[in-house]
Amino acid sequence: MIPTAVLAVLATCLCSMHLVVCYHLNYRPIIGVLAQENLEEDVHAHGSSYIGASYVKYLESAGARVAPIRIHQTDEEYEKIFNSINGLLLPGGNVDLHTSQFSRVSKIFYDLAIKANDASDHFPIWGTCQGLQQLSVLTSNRNLLTLTDTKAVALPLTFTQASQNSRLFKAFPKDLIQSLSEENITSNFHSWSLSLQNYSRNARLKRFYKVLTINTDGKRDFVSTMEANRYPFYAVQWHPEKTPFEWVNKPGMVHTAASVRASFYTAQFFVSEAMKNHHKFSSASEEEKALIYNYSPVFTGLDGIFMQNYYFD
Ligand SMILES: *[C@@H]1O[C@H](CO)[C@@H](O)[C@H](O)[C@H]1NC(C)=O
Ligand SMILES: *[C@@H]1O[C@H](CO)[C@@H](O)[C@H](O)[C@H]1NC(C)=O
Repeated sequence: MIPTAVLAVLATCLCSMHLVVCYHLNYRPIIGVLAQENLEEDVHAHGSSYIGASYVKYLESAGARVAPIRIHQTDEEYEKIFNSINGLLLPGGNVDLHTSQFSRVSKIFYDLAIKANDASDHFPIWGTCQGLQQLSVLTSNRNLLTLTDTKAVALPLTFTQASQNSRLFKAFPKDLIQSLSEENITSNFHSWSLSLQNYSRNARLKRFYKVLTINTDGKRDFVSTMEANRYPFYAVQWHPEKTPFEWVNKPGMVHTAASVRASFYTAQFFVSEAMKNHHKFSSASEEEKALIYNYSPVFTGLDGIFMQNYYFD
């Protein structure tokens, strides 16, 4: 038998040698969630940017803590944050994918994450809705999106062949995959989509991502779940975080047991990816100052698209 101490050393060695297999997990992951410019119609807004609290709860429910990433900071500040956190979530919303601060900061983190992963520093990115769209713009350097009729509708996922050996869905129970493929339990709230056609015709996107699920609005097939081939980047056009944490009463919202379970499995998968990253804040007090607990969410009323928002700056 190999003594525990030797095993520990062995695990650390494997990690420091940057092997793909690394047994040393970080059980205190902190995930950055990117803020964005306020919605124009948000009467509750104070400050110039926000994060929907559902994204924070979503990650917390799966064992991560959250650090908000505010817009309007310098490149140097973002690099310091990047080296302190263990993953990034790009949330849904409604900003310009080329000119907004959200897009500027997404690009800074995307470029840093590419560099880090190329150097075997595992840094995962998750994009939801607008986050998927932003990732498609960052990878292809173009906006290839098209309008679809998918503003408030719950849909079943059509799994592709490629989904069968995906990382994202690997740990999902069979009955949950079945629910996802047969029941209308994924919430869609988007006007723009990455059509399967434009994905297939763009060499960069096609090389970079594999499409795991597809949906249609009846006229166009679009990418609803994708993961990068060589990077721990994942994206969904649907909204796993709304199912357990948002309660606006309109078509497209789902709260069935299977939908809540699906939400949790996506969150848990992403947090497990963040656990493979070992970035750290430079001190306990730096970490304390960076966490979302320093801010209080605001209840926006029963009609709010986001029940609670964090506001910044
Ligand atoms: C493909 O992308 C272009 C933008 O480059 C867009 O105008 C067009 O509507 C898209 N077509 C489809 C089918 O998605
Ligand atoms: C479920 O979604 C499909 C589209 O994939 C649609 O045809 C069907 O009417 C929906 N069913 C319900 C009960 O909403």
